[in-house]
Amino acid sequence: MSAMNASSDYSHALVRRPRRLRSNPAMREMVAETALRPADFILPMFYADGINEAREISSMPGVFQHTEDSLLRAAHEALEVGVRCVDLFGVPVDADKDATGSQAWAEEGILNRGVAALRQEFGDDLLIMADTCLDEFTDHGHCGVVTEDRHGNAIVDNDATLPLYQQMAVAQARAGAHIVSPSGMMDGQIAAIRAALDEEGFEDVAIMAYSAKYASAFFGPFREAVGSSLQGDRRTYQQDPANLRESLLEAELDIAEGADFIMVKPALPYLDVLTRIADTSPVPVAAYQVSGEYAMIQAAGRNGWVDLDAVMMESLTSIKRAGANQILTYFAVDAAKALRNA
Ligand code: PBG
Repeated sequence: MSAMNASSDYSHALVRRPRRLRSNPAMREMVAETALRPADFILPMFYADGINEAREISSMPGVFQHTEDSLLRAAHEALEVGVRCVDLFGVPVDADKDATGSQAWAEEGILNRGVAALRQEFGDDLLIMADTCLDEFTDHGHCGVVTEDRHGNAIVDNDATLPLYQQMAVAQARAGAHIVSPSGMMDGQIAAIRAALDEEGFEDVAIMAYSAKYASAFFGPFREAVGSSLQGDRRTYQQDPANLRESLLEAELDIAEGADFIMVKPALPYLDVLTRIADTSPVPVAAYQVSGEYAMIQAAGRNGWVDLDAVMMESLTSIKRAGANQILTYFAVDAAKALRNA
């Protein structure tokens, strides 16, 4: 074959040049299919009892256990850059933990006090979401009531836990939560919570269901953040990372039970799950970029091994591209600032 023929074959193949649409920033922006907005982000926050000043979580640089003052200040900072929702976790002192996690529904429990303080400060300008799970409040660190099965093995009792979640959700609604977010992976928790909220007159309080929540090692730093008492693992109630199908079932059940939002968690290692669920969900689908995802990006960024800001934005863009409508992320404020400066 002559050189002439070879080159004409070649140019024929290049009639389609995908690179044309990448040729300059204006072109790239015009054809971008995914754009992040500050209002996509939900900022998880930790409100801790028994501390006098905010305490940085060593495995999550830039994330703090807050006092009331610093909590309100940080929430103002979030709202100022366009973040419209915070997700609050309570960190009680060890002396307040017990077998059932009763401080979870006590009006004076740390989480309910935090919800009330935020709602009073912000009204409806900032959406207040509360974590509806017992693990921060139980002395054994499990997400529900621990009993023994007939063989003497310790198990988390699904049905005995549901009434406690009901009380907790109602207490959070009473404190002023706009959204409650059951994260304990008990079967039937969404129906139980919806019924309790409605019965108490909180028909307008929404439920964000942690539908597909995996028993993930990526939650590691969170356990430090909340001073978890957990020994062992949550594999009898959180999902096996090997499985996709049960996520579809979990999402379907939660929607049928009345979830207003469903969620996939963690985010980046489970984008396939997120996409499958998002493809058919009739309700908004959130994804939670969890503590370990944050910690890895921070660690590599602070070491100079990756460009922290670039990896932060790329990871969030990927989560949205995969189908997330909302993203819970400890990067919420930094990412919102980056969007404003872009
Ligand atoms: C349970 C809960 C966990 C997280 C959010 N809610 C921990 C767990 O299930 O062990 C993890 C969040 C994160 O890792 O950022 N209430």
